[in-house]
Amino acid sequence: MTQTTPRTIRIFDTTLRDGEQSPGGSMNLSEKLEVAQALASLGVDIMEAGFPIASPGDFEAVREIAATIRGPVICGLARCNDGDIDRAWEALQKAERARIHVFLATSAIHREFKLRMTQDEIISRAVHGVKRALSYCDDVEFSAEDAARTEIDFLCRVVEAAIDAGATTINVPDTVGYTTPNEMHDRIQTLLYRVPNIDRAVLSCHCHDDLGLAVANSLAAVVAGAGQIECTINGIGERAGNCSLEEVVMAMRTRHDLYHTTTQIRTERLVPTSRLLSKITGLDVQRNKAIVGRNAFAHESGIHQDGMLKERSTYEIMRPEDVGFAKTDLVLGKHSGRAALADRARELGFHLTGEQLQVVFDQFKILADKKKNIFDGDIIALIQQQIAGATNTAWTLESYSVESGTKRVPCVELTLRHGEKVFTERVQQGDGPIDAAFWAVESIIGIKTICKEFRVRSATIGRDAMGEVNVEVEHEGQSYRGTGASTDTVEATILAMLNAMNRIVTEKSLRSAGKVSPQDA
Ligand code: KIV
Ligand code: ZN
Repeated sequence: MTQTTPRTIRIFDTTLRDGEQSPGGSMNLSEKLEVAQALASLGVDIMEAGFPIASPGDFEAVREIAATIRGPVICGLARCNDGDIDRAWEALQKAERARIHVFLATSAIHREFKLRMTQDEIISRAVHGVKRALSYCDDVEFSAEDAARTEIDFLCRVVEAAIDAGATTINVPDTVGYTTPNEMHDRIQTLLYRVPNIDRAVLSCHCHDDLGLAVANSLAAVVAGAGQIECTINGIGERAGNCSLEEVVMAMRTRHDLYHTTTQIRTERLVPTSRLLSKITGLDVQRNKAIVGRNAFAHESGIHQDGMLKERSTYEIMRPEDVGFAKTDLVLGKHSGRAALADRARELGFHLTGEQLQVVFDQFKILADKKKNIFDGDIIALIQQQIAGATNTAWTLESYSVESGTKRVPCVELTLRHGEKVFTERVQQGDGPIDAAFWAVESIIGIKTICKEFRVRSATIGRDAMGEVNVEVEHEGQSYRGTGASTDTVEATILAMLNAMNRIVTEKSLRSAGKVSPQDA
């Protein structure tokens, strides 16, 4: 396709909806708000904040995001039924600009086995859904779920009917990640040629990555004429994930000669946003991940390094600073003040309230007494701990001591605070200090868990680096994450356990008050 003026492609981010459906990717309200702020700073056009009918927690998150985030269009998902759509609008109504996103499956396999509906019934349900959404707001997106496997003639009929009913965006999802670039290209092109009212809507694509083709398929859709891409930060999402925002945006930017497109994304915010999400969800970004992985710009071979020194473009197609890799990581020290910390936090993509900043600053000062150089990784670890605990401050660590060694049973003495009360327990049990710390926390709080995952890693370099612990525990069939950081690994473990325990306690109390379903924790 040859064009002179670049087309602006809308970036529809669904990290907080489809991305949050990623196994292990669930977030609490304050974590979602933090991510929403970062997405707004990144410059996404539309932010899908959640699926309000799915649970009270989802509803609350969409409502808070709609009420507080300014800039992007805030979108809520709904099936094509009145209850879903009414609930979506209830959550969205405070948004500066709102979009209701209705979806209905159209493929034969879904019609026959999931919905048990005929083609005509699908069309009338879709039309009803679009019209109901339109009665609340004039920005309505219709998604033909499993569009990539839908008979093309029927897809054209559904799309035409949805546009006639008033849909302003038509989304073509590859729900199961089955299609290929050529197929996606043809599908979009066919819709553009055959649907008579197609000029009244923006065509969008929504690709899953089951065959590792989500980015390629999205680019193919753009070449064919799609004007919106649905994607997530780090490509998180159901199963193998969704189209990765950073990859698709940088592909269009780097190969502008080929695509002739632009986006509103501030690309220098890509790495900070990716790291923020990874810290918040505990979902690691693989080192060699394109654009945002730690190795994405690391040149190991001597020949490459030599070429780079002579002329960067020999081996570099993008500049690390264009995607937000900091030139240097050494930032603050003992004498740095609150303003410097606030500044650095902002650059790293965090938006702290005055109260949060004060807590992080107090911890920063304690850390600066133990450690000469404070790196970005240290700051992120401190902030992350604060955000994760923001709504769950029930149990906190007062102090602990541990005795362990070869050929002896470890012993932990732990003191926790719960409101005004302080509890101490001495536990001599387990096969090491970490295990003993788990036993001690469970014994004081009175909640039993099964440890599913335990990860320790260094937040920065050096022997005095903060250790970052991520735990995933199971309680009554549900999984809960916890994160903790300290220069002392046992302490980091206790903090991570408390973080997970506080999520369990919060959920139990919300559930007994009838305000939450298990998936919100
Ligand atoms: O993958 C999918 O089909 C979806 C729709 C709800 C858009 O996520
Ligand atoms: Zn999806």
